[in-house]
Amino acid sequence: MAAKKSSNRKRRALRVLFVSSEAYPLIKTGGLADVSHALPNALAERRTDVRLLLPAYRQVLERVEDLQILGWLDLGPLGQARVLQAYHPGFRMPLWLIDRADLFDREGNPYTDPNGADWPDNPLRFTVFSRAAALLGIDALGLGWRPDVVHSNDWQGGLTHAFLEAENHRPRRVHTIHNLAYDCQFDYARFQALKLPPHWWSMEHAEFYGRFSLMKAGLVFSDVINTVSPTYAREICTPEYGYGYAGILQHYCDKLHGILNGIDTRVWDPLHDRHLVAHYGPDDDLPKARRRNRGALLQAMGYALKREVLDRPMIGFVGRLVYQKGVDLLLEAIPPLLERTEASFALVGTGEAALEARLRELESAHPGRVFIHLGYSEPLGHLLEAGADIFAMPSRYEPCGLNQMYSLHYGTPPVVRRTGGLGDTVVDTTPQTIEDGSANGFVFGPAEAAALGEALERAIEAHADSALWRRLQRTGMAQDFGWKRSARAYLALYRDAG
Ligand code: ADP
Ligand code: GLC
Repeated sequence: MAAKKSSNRKRRALRVLFVSSEAYPLIKTGGLADVSHALPNALAERRTDVRLLLPAYRQVLERVEDLQILGWLDLGPLGQARVLQAYHPGFRMPLWLIDRADLFDREGNPYTDPNGADWPDNPLRFTVFSRAAALLGIDALGLGWRPDVVHSNDWQGGLTHAFLEAENHRPRRVHTIHNLAYDCQFDYARFQALKLPPHWWSMEHAEFYGRFSLMKAGLVFSDVINTVSPTYAREICTPEYGYGYAGILQHYCDKLHGILNGIDTRVWDPLHDRHLVAHYGPDDDLPKARRRNRGALLQAMGYALKREVLDRPMIGFVGRLVYQKGVDLLLEAIPPLLERTEASFALVGTGEAALEARLRELESAHPGRVFIHLGYSEPLGHLLEAGADIFAMPSRYEPCGLNQMYSLHYGTPPVVRRTGGLGDTVVDTTPQTIEDGSANGFVFGPAEAAALGEALERAIEAHADSALWRRLQRTGMAQDFGWKRSARAYLALYRDAG
């Protein structure tokens, strides 16, 4: 035992190149950014030598410090890419940036133009990014830093492992699916234009029903596939959740894993959150803190403060306004609830124009009861977690979901549909789970407005029972959703891969 310990101590730290297309607080469209910030940091805290690789988007270049040129990569038919190293106080490791101004120096978000349409050259942008990632994976710049593991994420990093396939001494290849519904497909003409190896256009490789899929490349060419909750790992092997990939994933079930994301309690903690006006822990006067945070939330959203809104239960939602998140179910379930109960509804989100328009209509039909902010706002997202009483997350599918965990941690019991990571983290309130102390929220099954409405009503009733509510809040707040557990699981995966 003692001998083993000492040999462990001598072992060089594991080197991980973490390849992502977004990372909080540099650039964020959703949970992938939160994960690409917290997981590399959690790994770095556990004696792992990490480099986080991102595209050098304009917004990223504006925010980083100590920029330095590491070199120029020869991408063959894709031209050249400059590799930069930079730092940011939010990260415990150097950031590596793939600098191609023609592809990444733009307005808009990483994937869409300022009007929300996909950048037409996304296949080229992320093929270049993945090619560069693969070259850094074999230390093509001769930096003396060769990773043991290359960990790519979602379709944006999907080709990284394909490009590594030809290397004899390649690092272990781990690919994480954060959302299978987004996969980036294109036709044969585009495939040819990208000058990708012709044999990749085959069923065994990344051809997908007559098109080419960057997500499929990530699945086929990796040594390990991972996704972000145990339940989603099972769900995606079924036609209902597999988005056409179920058969492929069944084929690769031996290399498919599910590790639940964590939450970064340095950013999301009601005791220290810099966006809150009233901080609190589990033993504090939660209703008092919540009233103050709600007041600040409504003011920041531009509404006049009304006492009754502070006193009565408030249902909240933060998220992308898309089909996945079940926003249409909320739009149907909320009006009857407003009639039957005294609850109000607050939402912070941005997304599909049709849903945004319907939310504005809901707001006009219920002045003083419905509060809507259409846009992306990190401060409002935090304030809502601490200012609402009940958090609604009626997702049709949810690979992991972070907001239900933020809600549990903020003493804001979530109402969720039983799917993916939501079912893995939220325990429905029933006589039995109250009795055994595991109840922390409300769970419903069918993706229907009636089922959501019924679950929300149960939550509103429970909220009226202050002793019960306090127990639910305490249970959620006491749970450990930190990254420690997940980071350990990732390290085990890295060591097992290949
Ligand atoms: P997804 O990645 O599918 O969007 P997650 O629950 O994993 O869902 O993560 C969403 C993240 O994005 C959370 O940190 C959430 O607070 C944040 N978020 C989403 N939309 C908004 C918004 N409009 N304003 C502020 N934060 C948002
Ligand atoms: C995706 C999923 C979400 C998950 C996030 C981070 O965007 O939709 O459920 O929490 O990735 O893994």
